[in-house]
Amino acid sequence: MTVRKKYRTTDPARRNKCQAIIVKAYNGVLVLTDILLLILKILCHICGSVYKFFVSAEEKKVFDEIVLITGTGHGIGKELAIRYASLGATVVCLSLNEQRNEETIEKIKMMGLNAAYAYKCDVSKREEVFEVAGKIKREVGDVTILINNAGIMPCHVFLDHTTEEIKRVFDVNVLAHFWMLQAFLPGMIENNYGHIVALSSVAGLFSLPNVVPYCASKFAVRGLMEGISEELRLSTKGKSLIKFTTIYPYIVDTGFCKKPRIKFPYFMPMVPLQLAVSHIIRAQRRDYREYSVPSFWQSIHAVMRILPYEALCSLIDFIDFGVEADN
Ligand SMILES: NC(=O)c1ccc[n+]([C@@H]2O[C@H](COP(=O)([O-])OP(=O)(O)OC[C@H]3O[C@@H](n4cnc5c(N)ncnc54)[C@H](O)[C@@H]3O)[C@@H](O)[C@H]2O)c1
Repeated sequence: MTVRKKYRTTDPARRNKCQAIIVKAYNGVLVLTDILLLILKILCHICGSVYKFFVSAEEKKVFDEIVLITGTGHGIGKELAIRYASLGATVVCLSLNEQRNEETIEKIKMMGLNAAYAYKCDVSKREEVFEVAGKIKREVGDVTILINNAGIMPCHVFLDHTTEEIKRVFDVNVLAHFWMLQAFLPGMIENNYGHIVALSSVAGLFSLPNVVPYCASKFAVRGLMEGISEELRLSTKGKSLIKFTTIYPYIVDTGFCKKPRIKFPYFMPMVPLQLAVSHIIRAQRRDYREYSVPSFWQSIHAVMRILPYEALCSLIDFIDFGVEADN
């Protein structure tokens, strides 16, 4: 009773001050608890990553998946189609070049595998993508793995690229990914199941002369993949089971890179097509978010980003790889 009386008679200004201090202290404790929890979570995830680094994740089965690959008439896309088919998946091959795409399907069928479908499609054209997406849904079913692979790379010094060429690079290498995602992601979201794989490039990690529009387009692919997976994670409060994998290949032996320049061919040889495709499929089956082929390019990229600009230039001059201009 005495205490209450005493309290009531206290100066209101002092009382407010006391209350403010208590609220501040309480909020401080809350923030501190949040920070401690965050540190704990980060440590757990670092331990998880270290564990995954030494104990490789199991590779997912793909035999009941419907895998759609763009650019299957040649190179990486063609080899991916053959390899996914041989793993038992149903493959849907999309390419601009009808005849070459049919050759891919024939090769798969000659291996005794019949679950392969070819569709002619210019993936840079939104209407074509939507038309073919409807056909695929009716004739094959719901695509569960989408591999955005088709790409082009004109090689000239920056000012020699024509306006049309620059637009085409972005149409095929970037906008096509948007149209494919708009066509196939809603089905995956509905089923809360699926995997999107995008072919970026080492040129999407480091910019190179003579292929500036190409580099910009491959950086854009990286931004697109990071952005969309983050948006999905946040909008579903982490409940989305759709996976995203971005691949950064170094020069692969497909003829895509017409005049490669490699200073240390012994240490940094072109990646054989078969090996590159094995890495890409493994990255997808292990749910890697990002993967460079060979893997050391991601470490080089991480180191390069923390170096001062001049040191970075020295390192780039030392490594000195790239692409010569066509003309
Ligand atoms: N080969 C490399 O050195 C290398 C390195 C890094 C990244 N990449 C990337 O890998 C992907 C495949 O490269 P690749 O070496 O197999 O190329 P490639 O030229 O051998 O094959 C590309 C295929 O895409 C098809 N294509 C092109 N434009 C198309 C369009 N608008 N619509 C549908 N199909 C289209 C072509 O017809 C062809 O079949 C590309 O995105 C490329 O940027 C390649």
